[in-house]
This record gives sequence, structure tokens and C-alpha cells, in this order.
Amino acid sequence: MPHFYDMLGRIRGSLSKGLMMELKTQGSNENRRIVIVDDEPKNLKILRIRLAKDYELAEASSGEEAQDIIRSFQPALVLLDIMMPGMSGYELTKLIKQDPSLGNPKVILLSGKGLIEEKLEGYESGADDYLTKPFNKQELEAKIRVFLRLFNLEQQLIQINQDLEEEVKLRSEQLLKAERLTFVGLHSAQIVHNLKNPLQVLRFYVDNLKKDHPESKAVTKIDEVQKKLLEIVKNILGSVDRDLKDDIVPLEIDRVLRDELDFLRLGASEQDIRLKVDLDADVMVMASASHIRQVVGNLVKNAMDALWDQDQKSIKVRSEVSGSDIIVSVQDSGPGIPSNLQEKIFEPLFTTKDGNTGQAPGHGLGLSYCRRIIENYGGSLAIKNHEEGGAIATVHLPIKHAGKSIKKAS
Ligand SMILES: Nc1ncnc2c1ncn2[C@@H]1O[C@H](COP(=O)(O)OP(=O)(O)O)[C@@H](O)[C@H]1O
Ligand SMILES: [Mg+2]
Repeated sequence: MPHFYDMLGRIRGSLSKGLMMELKTQGSNENRRIVIVDDEPKNLKILRIRLAKDYELAEASSGEEAQDIIRSFQPALVLLDIMMPGMSGYELTKLIKQDPSLGNPKVILLSGKGLIEEKLEGYESGADDYLTKPFNKQELEAKIRVFLRLFNLEQQLIQINQDLEEEVKLRSEQLLKAERLTFVGLHSAQIVHNLKNPLQVLRFYVDNLKKDHPESKAVTKIDEVQKKLLEIVKNILGSVDRDLKDDIVPLEIDRVLRDELDFLRLGASEQDIRLKVDLDADVMVMASASHIRQVVGNLVKNAMDALWDQDQKSIKVRSEVSGSDIIVSVQDSGPGIPSNLQEKIFEPLFTTKDGNTGQAPGHGLGLSYCRRIIENYGGSLAIKNHEEGGAIATVHLPIKHAGKSIKKAS
């Protein structure tokens, strides 16, 4: 389902929107390492006295020496004298900014002169800030705080991006599995089922033939082949059943929905879609979290697709308990479904997303797959047009299916 991958890609792009807000100060994990570089021992000493009690320090008295120290100490910040014999502060700054093995620390250049040309050259070489000696204690401390925080936030962002990439990979794998299951589940299973009956009829005749012609090699061969075929058929049917029985465990349905919706919300906000969520099915069910996620994922994705050219873009997802069912609905403000297509949309491979409109092309597998999953739980999935306009997909999932439904302790 490549269009789903597009969405995943966009979700990654929306990192800045959703996840920046989640960035927190890291507390004890924060990198508070600083390397100070100066050829003058007296200058090193001043900095050491100022900073040693609040930060972890390492010192170097030349640019050359500093490189190795930075590589092994992996500081968040380097305080760097500009004028040094050998490698200058500018040169070292360039190296720091170019060599990823140095960990990309922030760089503050220290100068005795405070010339504007010096400052400009410093920024040009990639330095993050500039301070003139003798430093004002408060200014030095404030700048250090700012850059340490910046460094640590950047690191966190990199980490979050990596986590998200892993999440995207995982979801993609789940989607691939869904796609495989759709094909195996809907096509092979049907074909294989159809094979099972003729094979059983064949069995009956082979048994009769064996009685009449016990010595016939041809009959023995047919007998063997029939058994082999039946075995293959049973294996395939068994693997479909196994996929559908995937990890059935007691689940807090609202929690699974909330997790998936949090994930989908990123894609929705990218497309300026308002996703309203109202979860009130405070029960446990026996189900596979991946099945639930795939169903709600497909329904919300369809709703998002339906909104591509709409002015009003909103999706409401609700869950509630009604009698012995959990009802999950996904309602959108899209154009709804033409009456002649209301059942057709559940046919495998039926899609109206032919790629000629602004929508990404569809595969027509989502709804047939979702319906198969839900029916496998003894539930139902229907899509109707809502009186307010737009479509509403409604899943009924029997709680009874859970064996016993456990009201969550409040
Ligand atoms: N919320 C909706 N609003 C309008 N049409 C929908 C909606 N959900 C599904 N459909 C229609 O059902 C068709 C089949 O959906 P689906 O099986 O998920 O396949 P796909 O999304 O790949 O087209 C869609 O192509 C679309 O025409
Ligand atoms: Mg779909």
C-alpha cells in the first residue's frame, strides 16, 4: 500500500510540529561536558575555577591536542581561544563542525581583542558564539547554559527522529503483513477452500479404485498425489487461520485506539485535518492489537483520503460500549459514498482512487481486509453516509468474544 508509506513519510516530516513540544529537559541524562582550549595556562585556570563545580571539564592547550580530547570526551560544548600557536581557533572550529566523530559539539570562540572582523570570521568558520576576554561571569554562564541546552535538545531530537524511523519501519512491516494477509486471506483462501471439496470427492473415488485394483501402480500414484494435495491445502488454510489468530490477548481497547490515533494524528495535522477523538469503551477485549490498529488505521486513512479536496476537513473517531458490543466509528466530513457503491467498496481490489485526481492511487484492499478481520471476531463493519454529510464507518465488535469481559478497575 504505497500511499500509506507516503503518509508515513509525511509524518516524519511533521516532526517539528508534534514532537518539539515533547522535548523535555533531560535532567540527569544531560551532557554537561565542556572542553576548554587555550595555549595560556592562566586562561585555562580562570575558566577551570569558574566552571569546575558545575560542569565536567577537560582541557587542551593546542588545537591539535584538542581534537583527540574532544573525540574521546564527546563534550556538549567547546570553549576555544582564537589565537593559538599552530592550529588556530578558526581552523579547529571548522574541523569540529566537519568531523562527525567529534560529536558535533557547540563552539564558543574566546578572543582577547573583540574585533568585529574576528567575530565575523568566527561565525564563518562555523562557531556558534563569541566571547571577549576578560569575560563577564554572568554572560559566560548564560551562554554556556543556552548552548548546553541547545546541544542536548538537538541530541534528543536526533534520538526522537531515530525512534520515529524505527516506528515507521515497524508500521510499514505491519502494513506489508496486512497486505500479504489480504491476498492470502481473501484470494488464496477462497481458491484453496474451493479445492478442498473436489479433493475430498477424489478421495472417495480413489478409495473405491484401490479396492478394485489393489495392484495398480497408477492408482497408488493417484492416491499419493491426492494425499499430498490435501496436505498442501490444509497447510495453506492453517497459515491463514494462524495469521488471523495473531497474538490474541486481553486488550484495553481504548488504549490501543489512542496509541494508533496519536500516530495517525501527525499525518492528519500535516493535511490540516482536525482529528477529534472521543473514546469511551472502557473495557477489555480479547483481540490482537495489530488487528485493531490495522482496522482503525485503514478507516482513518480512507477518511483522510476522502477529504483531499474538501474545504471542511474533520474526522471524528468514537468508541463506546453498547449492550454486548464495542462500537468504534470513524466519521468524516468528506463527500460520502455514492449509493450504487455502498456494497461494492468492500470488494477486494475495488477502488475509486485511480491516481488521476489529486489523491494517491488506491489498491482497494483496505475495506475488504478490515471486514474480514472484524468478521473473524464475530463482529461487523459497515459504511454509510451520515445525515450531517460525509461517511461514517462503524465497527461492531462483540465483547462476549473476549470470553469474559472485564470492566476496567477505575
Ligand atoms: N470515508 C470514505 N469516504 C468516501 N469513500 C470511501 C470512504 N472509505 C472508503 N471509500 C471508498 O471505498 C473504496 C475502497 O476503499 P479501500 O478498500 O480502503 O481501498 P482504497 O482506499 O485503496 O481505495 C475507496 O476507493 C473509496 O471509493
Ligand atoms: Mg483504503
